[in-house]
Amino acid sequence: MRTRREFFRLVSAAAAFPPIAYARRTKDAHAPVLANVSGDRSLRAHADAQGLLVGCAVVPERLTGEPAYGSLVAEQVNLLVPENAMKWAALRPAPDKFDFRGADEIMAFAAEHGQKVRGHNLCWHESIPAWFAGTVTKENAQQFLIQHIQTVAGRYAGKMQSWDVVNEAIDPKSGRADSLRKSPWLDLIGPDYIELAFHAARQADPTALLTYNDYAIEHDTPDEREKRGQVLMLVRRLKARGVPIDAVGVQSHLSVTDPPPGAGLQEFVRELRSMGMQVFVTELDVNERKLDGSVAERDAAIARLYKEYVTMMVAEPNVSAVLTWGITDRYTWLNGPKYGRADGKPQRCLPFDSDYQPAPAFFAYRDAIDSRRRAGSTSGAAAPEKKTPGNSDDPYAPFTPKPAAPRTVPQ
Ligand code: XIL
Repeated sequence: MRTRREFFRLVSAAAAFPPIAYARRTKDAHAPVLANVSGDRSLRAHADAQGLLVGCAVVPERLTGEPAYGSLVAEQVNLLVPENAMKWAALRPAPDKFDFRGADEIMAFAAEHGQKVRGHNLCWHESIPAWFAGTVTKENAQQFLIQHIQTVAGRYAGKMQSWDVVNEAIDPKSGRADSLRKSPWLDLIGPDYIELAFHAARQADPTALLTYNDYAIEHDTPDEREKRGQVLMLVRRLKARGVPIDAVGVQSHLSVTDPPPGAGLQEFVRELRSMGMQVFVTELDVNERKLDGSVAERDAAIARLYKEYVTMMVAEPNVSAVLTWGITDRYTWLNGPKYGRADGKPQRCLPFDSDYQPAPAFFAYRDAIDSRRRAGSTSGAAAPEKKTPGNSDDPYAPFTPKPAAPRTVPQ
């Protein structure tokens, strides 16, 4: 009920004060709206109440250099992940050099605001520095990988909630029997690079949850079903060989125009649970590049997907963290050349829009976080949802004000 009321308040506040005109009249245009999503109404407070981690990808220069961004991140999440600052290209300016400035800034920010950090990532086929090709060879590749992991995971040992040890290693289209993706690491070290990386990570940081992270494993399409199966096989192989792996990251770059993920992913999460593994939703965002309609209609569809997807995932007791890939549409990677909308409009893919206003997706996401309690912590099955009363069955649908009731004249 409160959510519904907040949503109404939000929409009517926005309608009464169109942002630009309102901004001209007041010093802080966002204050009334942000009050509805702050403090005990934040994602962070709601997640804390469920014992859930809620996080977002962050950029260090913005945390420290842009107060509005910093305070939003401090207030809304209890877990940070560097969007790029802990990747090889950021940390390794030269073969014999490490640059930890950005990564350290994130650690300091998190410590200051009582937040956890997950590391992303120690080994990936992308974000390889320019010097790599001429320097790393079959002879020294193992040493480079192990030394990198010892240095990076070692530096933050005891401080990380988890590490993405290996990112995106499966590609069923590679044509290999083991479905491993063609990558510099595979070329230079061979398939063992994966276990090598996990062992090195465990040695460097015995407490971080060691994670395998991948994308396009969410949906019930033939391709994604196949890839999900291959990820499971990889995890089984690793477990059987005694490789220290604790969790799988399901990236969750969803598209609003695709049918939502469902039973296949649910089974996958449960299978991992039976193997004693945790699952993290690591990079959630909702691509709406092919979606037509008004902003309100687009927002409603995006919000529905947040609600449905996060509700399904947090109903599983071994799903212990949900992170969005950014917090505000202002800086989403989805506005880049590859994923931008054809009409040039900014993507509305995250809980806060590019003016740092909460989108309907925020409220949908927060309701989904709350639903973990209804699902119970051990059943693994979602309890039926409560219907929210209103002028539509869908609480995130575009709001159409009802005509005012005729005044009744007291007798
Ligand atoms: C993306 C970042 O968001 C971009 O800023 C960067 O240019 C490329 O990488 N899967 C991952 C992330 O694991 O590291 C990617 O992040 C998005 C896809």
